[in-house]
Amino acid sequence: MRVLFIGDVFGKPGRNLVSSHLPKIKSNFDFIIANGENAAGGHGINKDSFEALLKAGVHCITLGNHAWDNREVLQLTDDPRLIRPLNAYKEAPGRGSGTFTVGDEKITVVNLLGRVFMQPCENPYDALENVLETADAPVFVDFHAEATSEKTCFAYHFDGRIAACIGTHTHVATADTRILPNGTLFQCDVGMTGVLHSSIGMGLEASTYKLRTGLPMKVEVATGAVQLSAVAFDLEHGKVTRAVRYSYLETQESGIYQGEVFV
Ligand SMILES: [Fe+2]
Repeated sequence: MRVLFIGDVFGKPGRNLVSSHLPKIKSNFDFIIANGENAAGGHGINKDSFEALLKAGVHCITLGNHAWDNREVLQLTDDPRLIRPLNAYKEAPGRGSGTFTVGDEKITVVNLLGRVFMQPCENPYDALENVLETADAPVFVDFHAEATSEKTCFAYHFDGRIAACIGTHTHVATADTRILPNGTLFQCDVGMTGVLHSSIGMGLEASTYKLRTGLPMKVEVATGAVQLSAVAFDLEHGKVTRAVRYSYLETQESGIYQGEVFV
């Protein structure tokens, strides 16, 4: 099974690039996951952005700490293609993991929140242990967290028990793609699908003003050239055999491979 995981789709620019680019490449993949927690105007996900990502070819959408920012998400939580953080508080609607059938194979997708420099949530280690107790398919984890140290320790802790642990949330792709000693694919952060020259998807000018002066300023989704950030990997008999970071900048005629790792 060849899987594509698309990093945080940010606002209309990110959605539009997924809609225009993914249809051109989706036939290369058996299963496509995208993090959509910022798909609606940079804050949460709504019905239109959920449907736009699915129409483009995404099979499963994960979320994060902004899962509930747009209340329209409450109309979507019954859809099994939407995976919210598993370790959200127990009152949260929806599901934190889902198993998908892909041809004659299966994959379980889990979304988890980190706890370092993040809002309070349940213990992600305990939450994943609960899933692994009954999992009957290779497990893919979107670990939505800020600190590289937390993501790294988490991935190594579950090395060999999950197929892949790829981080989201910082919107900055890391160059640490690796197969861990017991076979789990790991990358601290897949990066963002949003405007390249921006502050994690938002306009630079207003964001910088806030940081420089400490004064309030309305910050809006940036405009300009958009970059898609993703990780592609092959899953065979429950293990990742090959992984490639994939980045596409819409001003170029074709995608560029930024790096590759092989087992
Ligand atoms: Fe986030």
